Amino acid sequence: MSRLVVVSNRVPAPKPGGASAGGLAVALSGAMEARGGVWFGWSGDTAPHDAPEPEEARLIVKDKVTYALVDLTERDLEDYYSGFSNRMLWPLFHYRMDLTGFTRVTLGGYYRVNKLFSKLLRKMVEPDDIVWVHDYHLVPLAADLRAAGLKNRMGFYLHIPFPPPDILTVLPNHADIVRGLAAYDVIGFQTPYDVENFETYLRREKLGRRLSGHRFVVHGRAVTVMALPVGIETEAFAKTAQASEKNALVRRAEESLVGRSLIIGVDRLDYSKGIAERIQAFESFLTLDTEWRNRCTYLQITPKSRSDVAEYAQMEREVAELAGRVNGAHADLDWTPIRYVNRAIGRNALAGLYRLARVGLVTPLRDGMNLVAKEFVASQKPKDPGVLLLSRFAGAAHELDGALITNPYDIDGTAGAIARALEMPLDERADRWTRMYERIRNHDVAWWCDSFLKALEQPANDGAEVRPI
Ligand code: F6P
Repeated sequence: MSRLVVVSNRVPAPKPGGASAGGLAVALSGAMEARGGVWFGWSGDTAPHDAPEPEEARLIVKDKVTYALVDLTERDLEDYYSGFSNRMLWPLFHYRMDLTGFTRVTLGGYYRVNKLFSKLLRKMVEPDDIVWVHDYHLVPLAADLRAAGLKNRMGFYLHIPFPPPDILTVLPNHADIVRGLAAYDVIGFQTPYDVENFETYLRREKLGRRLSGHRFVVHGRAVTVMALPVGIETEAFAKTAQASEKNALVRRAEESLVGRSLIIGVDRLDYSKGIAERIQAFESFLTLDTEWRNRCTYLQITPKSRSDVAEYAQMEREVAELAGRVNGAHADLDWTPIRYVNRAIGRNALAGLYRLARVGLVTPLRDGMNLVAKEFVASQKPKDPGVLLLSRFAGAAHELDGALITNPYDIDGTAGAIARALEMPLDERADRWTRMYERIRNHDVAWWCDSFLKALEQPANDGAEVRPI
């Protein structure tokens, strides 16, 4: 088995204050700990603006994993992370052209940091290693590594949606970004819809085509393109949820509900998650279904995220105001309809809270996958499961056909679905839950990781022309 080198923007290094775990880090941690290898990326620390460029990554070895960490300067973070990655690629790939901001300076920062990563990483990669790069921050990395002479098998996985061509072509350097993708041997997307968008883009822009099955030619190079939905550690998460019934925080939450049904939402504070629309839907539900007033509590756990990006700071204010207004209008002396919590809750307690909830609200306006949806399902009591209300615009909706599928832009429709979820009889809940649990048990994170690595380890032998970039 070849050694695995994983590269991602954030690395959940084992150190105090290490970079916080987003969906990607959570998904990969278990697989990395089991298989071992190198995990390379940003340390989560910031070097001063004028600090000299590092010549080596800092290494921390824990069990089978070597964490290779790079400090980025304030300027690099501003241009590469907050700038091009999160003010251009993120909003655009989530269909929010209105929130994009493209500048040559941030674009330059994006390529600069990818070059820095390539310079440091190539010193660590051995000829038989396989390299697996994750997410939109690092698309150009393989092309930089190849330009430096690396011939390793390299794969790329996009955790966020791949938008339709009319949206992607808003990006002034879309052809360069796709040329960057062509330097990989395997490209993984979350859903068949993302692959379809990629294929349509290639055809319309005359930059490539599907050869057959998973094999594509992109910018003249043969690559494997697959839809592989990312999963969770389903059985382990289910066990954690069961054990967490006794967790002190979960007990406190349960006691505070005094018999009311719990509705839960858990999201990073991000405009793609549809939190404001969800609060509006909850308000509409309270207005339309007055018999539920005082009989349910909506807990929205929303750790702050990317607050240095202006659009995030603005939505932070908007959501807090909205939650406050709805509470002001609908609360009673002994009842607060929305509990809005702006901090991260540990995974054990979170699993217990999901298990306590009668309804899970996962209603993003657009999402690559959404692992909260899968964690909510994994956490349920098989004999008395809660109901998942899931946006049709989350990648997870392609898999979780037992959810109540909603359109988050339809506020009153979502309000109706909340009522339906709260009132759903046990046999229907159990039937829907069983279907979803089976799916996420058979397609867990180990399945995802093994399937991707299998494709990456076995060169396709189809005789398709492979031309250097
Ligand atoms: O899933 C998309 C993603 O950008 C991941 O790459 C990341 O781990 C997560 O969201 C959290 O984002 P950030 O690292 O910007 O806090």
